[in-house]
Amino acid sequence: MIARSIIAMAVIAMISTFAMADDDLLTMETCAMCHEDESAAFAASPHGRAMSQVDSAVLERSCVQCHSATAEHIDEPTPDNVRRVPDSTACVSCHPASLATMEVTNPAHTRFGVACVDCHAAGHSDSGTRHLLADEPFELCAGCHQSVAGEFKMPFAHRDGTRNFACTNCHSMHGQNRQGRLNLLSKSGACVDCHTEKTGPFVFPHPPRELDGCVACHHPHGTTNPRQLRRRSVAQLCLECHAGVPAFHNLSQPRYQTCQNCHVAVHGSNRDPRLFE
Ligand code: HEC
Ligand code: HEC
Ligand code: HEC
Ligand code: HEC
Ligand code: HEC
Ligand code: HEC
Ligand code: HEC
Ligand code: HEC
Ligand code: HEC
Ligand code: HEC
Repeated sequence: MIARSIIAMAVIAMISTFAMADDDLLTMETCAMCHEDESAAFAASPHGRAMSQVDSAVLERSCVQCHSATAEHIDEPTPDNVRRVPDSTACVSCHPASLATMEVTNPAHTRFGVACVDCHAAGHSDSGTRHLLADEPFELCAGCHQSVAGEFKMPFAHRDGTRNFACTNCHSMHGQNRQGRLNLLSKSGACVDCHTEKTGPFVFPHPPRELDGCVACHHPHGTTNPRQLRRRSVAQLCLECHAGVPAFHNLSQPRYQTCQNCHVAVHGSNRDPRLFE
């Protein structure tokens, strides 16, 4: 504390003696006089290194921007005239596109006040993930979306061997890649990247795929139904939309209950409009 007071006096002396503009004082160098450890830690963090790779002047100014520090904090340092955890406005001052894209692709996140630092370990620590995520891209989302995460534990669910299937395979938080919420609005967007043989285009597409996308028939996360279907049996699924099947379909016979035995090309056909092959 004594050391800090001496430094404070020195800093105040600097301000008065050299009559520097407040702005010029608000650099990392000044902050480091009292926060040496934090400054060193930030400069060594992945975010700090990424900044200095762009321009060392960005790193110099970053303390102030994230912590909304003003000259007042240097004159009279208290926790009240500085912001310990940066709000999204602070991040946006350097990443203007990130908020704009998030508002388009994930409006619910901005509406419910989910902050940048809820998802990004952009501060002094090293989370060891890509894009400075606060956690791996399943666990990160699972923390707030527990019921969705639970769906991935169902008997029929998207899994990557024994590893969790990253939510970001399908949901892009900022919408700049194709697998985004933006694309999920077409309800097939994210699926196209990995299931090309199911996505056509077909000469005779099965219309629901075109209209509502894959989720007309499949649950994207996981269910208790085989093939992640929306319904327990295939016949039940089909008959919800095709109540008026031709009369020769004797639905009391097991032979007719397995629609896909004859209509094999449920996703679309290049040869037959009735989806036979
Ligand atoms: C003259 C010394 C001094 C300078 C220069 C200084 N600080 Fe501080 N800072 C302090 C003191 C003292 C505290 C209060 C520590 C406490 O209460 O534990 C503090 C607290 C903080 C906190 C934590 C607030 C909290 O709630 O725990 C942050 C963040 C911070 N300063 C950032 C900065 C930044 C950024 C700069 C550079 C613009 C800066 N400080 C410059 C002395 C200084
Ligand atoms: C990108 C935003 C960001 C930048 C830039 C940044 N910090 Fe921080 N800082 C944080 C966050 C977030 C925390 C809260 C704890 C954490 O994540 O480590 C924090 C915490 C602190 C604290 C409080 C100590 C603590 O452990 O809680 C101080 C002091 C501090 N920072 C000083 C600085 C200084 C000095 C710089 C410039 C070298 C700086 N910060 C740059 C985001 C930032
Ligand atoms: C002073 C400017 C500045 C501030 C403030 C700032 N950043 Fe950054 N950030 C950068 C620079 C520069 C880079 C490296 C270049 C890039 O990837 O855009 C970077 C990189 C990143 C990355 C990694 C991008 C990638 O593709 O790996 C993320 C994530 C990020 N910042 C999030 C944040 C968050 C969250 C905040 C607020 C807590 C924040 N930043 C505050 C300048 C800043
Ligand atoms: C709900 C979680 C979440 C929130 C909130 C969030 N991000 Fe991200 N961010 C991600 C994920 C996940 C990625 C990795 C790329 C992807 O899958 O979209 C990412 C990527 C980034 C990148 C890397 C480059 C890019 O655009 O892909 C930057 C920079 C970034 N975020 C900054 C921010 C800033 C600034 C905010 C606050 C305005 C923010 N993020 C809010 C989850 C989030
Ligand atoms: C800090 C908590 C938090 C984190 C972390 C978080 N979310 Fe959310 N998310 C919310 C809240 C709150 C809502 C809005 C209420 C709701 O739909 O449950 C929401 C809504 C959503 C929605 C619905 C969007 C809409 O516009 O209807 C999707 C999709 C989503 N989140 C995906 C993700 C993914 C993927 C991740 C991880 C990259 C993630 N979330 C991380 C809190 C979070
Ligand atoms: C295989 C692709 C895929 C993966 C992986 C995925 N989602 Fe989804 N998610 C979707 C699709 C498609 C929808 C839209 C469903 C609809 O409109 O019926 C959706 C809808 C949502 C919704 C809004 C509706 C709802 O079901 O509550 C949330 C929230 C959500 N996902 C969160 C997550 C989280 C969290 C993860 C990771 C634990 C995740 N998703 C992983 C494809 C996926
Ligand atoms: C990142 C790649 C990827 C994305 C994106 C993706 N999937 Fe998958 N999907 C897989 C993998 C891998 C499997 C597991 C295959 C296996 O176990 O043989 C799978 C399995 C499935 C299954 C179950 C197959 C079975 O035999 O039980 C269905 C149905 C499915 N996906 C539909 C979808 C839908 C619908 C979407 C879009 C909402 C989607 N997938 C997005 C990779 C992906
Ligand atoms: C009209 C309903 C319907 C739509 C729409 C639909 N599917 Fe299917 N899908 C099925 C049925 C039924 C099965 C099971 C077929 C079987 O058991 O022989 C299936 C099986 C699958 C399988 C696993 C079995 C296999 O053949 O590999 C995958 C993967 C799959 N669908 C992906 C998709 C994708 C991706 C989309 C969107 C482009 C989609 N489906 C749209 C009904 C549908
Ligand atoms: C979400 C609603 C929906 C579901 C579920 C669905 N279909 Fe369809 N299907 C349609 C629509 C719409 C058409 C376009 C022709 C029409 O209006 O009947 C169509 C067309 C067809 C055709 C071509 C008929 C013609 O008139 O050319 C066949 C065969 C067919 N579906 C079989 C199936 C089978 C088998 C299943 C179950 C795997 C199934 N459908 C599930 C909505 C659906
Ligand atoms: C044993 C083979 C077989 C099975 C199993 C079968 N169908 Fe068919 N289905 C046909 C044949 C053959 C036609 C064509 C009749 C024609 O073109 O006159 C047809 C035609 C259709 C048509 C199109 C009628 C039209 O207007 O052109 C629909 C829709 C349909 N089936 C739905 C279903 C559904 C739903 C199931 C499961 C409950 C099912 N089918 C099971 C053989 C089958």
